[in-house]
Amino acid sequence: MKLADRTSRISSSPTMKVTATVDRLRREGVEVIDFGAGEPDFATPAPVKAAAHDALDHDFTRYTPVAGIVELKRAICERYRHDYGVDYKENEVIVTAGGKQALYNTALTLFGPGDEVITHAPYWPTLTEQIKLADATPVLVRTHPEDGFAIHAKAIVDAVTPRTRGIIVNSPCNPTGALVSESELAAIADVASARHIWIVVDLCYEKLIYDDVPHNLPGVLAEKCRDLTVLCGSSSKAYAMTGWRCGWALGPAKVIAASVALQSHETSNVTSITQKAAVEALTGSQAPVKAMLDEYRKRRDQLHAWLSAEPRLRCRKPAGAFYMFIDISDVLAVDGFRTSIDFADALLQESRVAVTPGEAFDAPGFIRISYATSMENLKEGSRRLLAFVQKHAPKTTYA
Ligand SMILES: Cc1ncc(COP(=O)(O)O)c(C=O)c1O
Repeated sequence: MKLADRTSRISSSPTMKVTATVDRLRREGVEVIDFGAGEPDFATPAPVKAAAHDALDHDFTRYTPVAGIVELKRAICERYRHDYGVDYKENEVIVTAGGKQALYNTALTLFGPGDEVITHAPYWPTLTEQIKLADATPVLVRTHPEDGFAIHAKAIVDAVTPRTRGIIVNSPCNPTGALVSESELAAIADVASARHIWIVVDLCYEKLIYDDVPHNLPGVLAEKCRDLTVLCGSSSKAYAMTGWRCGWALGPAKVIAASVALQSHETSNVTSITQKAAVEALTGSQAPVKAMLDEYRKRRDQLHAWLSAEPRLRCRKPAGAFYMFIDISDVLAVDGFRTSIDFADALLQESRVAVTPGEAFDAPGFIRISYATSMENLKEGSRRLLAFVQKHAPKTTYA
């Protein structure tokens, strides 16, 4: 049976594979500590759920405009105006089924055969797969653990060729937790502007930044190259709404109109009830976002302290998102595991702890721990992880 060529160019989401394995084991009655999940463990805030109930009670259950209800488009524009001082109009925003669809629509709208699209690695795998789905070619610029996986403008600019059509920046970055600095982004934007290259920013973790550091990426891009910028955001991580599927893209009217046309033949509007809930999330009190961030910070610090007991699990505290990205190459070097996939498989089989191997993010030798789980799980999971490492690579071998 012959499938279309594009199916052989794309592999299914490796991060979702971990989730599926954990699901299967749990259904078989196996108790697993899940450090794989890339989603908040918190409940969606009560007022957001109430808005959805209200929408149902009022039979708000029909098709909406493809780009989203006006109320929600206004709420998104107002949120970005309030948070970043940027000005977007209703025809410059589309509501999508998660940030994933915002990025996908954008890739299909902007990129095509023969185009190169630069992004930074390690990366969230969907970004490169979407570039390929658009028949374009991903060009990877490596970031490095030594400087916290910082994104350097020079490295990005050095990768630009006459075929470069776009640059995708993810900040905070999944899996590294790194933020791009405003000055580095400004330097990238200068080159993009001079060479008419699109800049797409994946801001899905924008509300999960631990310190009060400057991160007004929309403001920088509005000043430098607004006409070449698409901002993709999401309610998933900030408001604990992953299952509701609501994201958005903000960009030039022409780009958004093309995205709307695509989406009109793909999925039409985002679920009507979800849209009403998202209005509440964006316009209501932002206190739940802060409360969740405060809790993630505590978990990050505690997890880091626990893991520091084993210096061969090399990691830094991430600046954003909720992942600890750990260099395990020192452990791999001695314990007979060839790859971090082997390591993650054995950790799951023997110790019942699920982590995502670095290969999923083009970073062999690493594992990613999501700390979007309870402190209790983090404590028990780290205990098991440390015991696993000690068993397979006893410290005495280093004496
Ligand atoms: C970097 C990054 N961007 C975008 C998304 C998309 O999330 P959603 O489609 O739920 O908004 C994710 C989800 O894991 C992500 O990690």
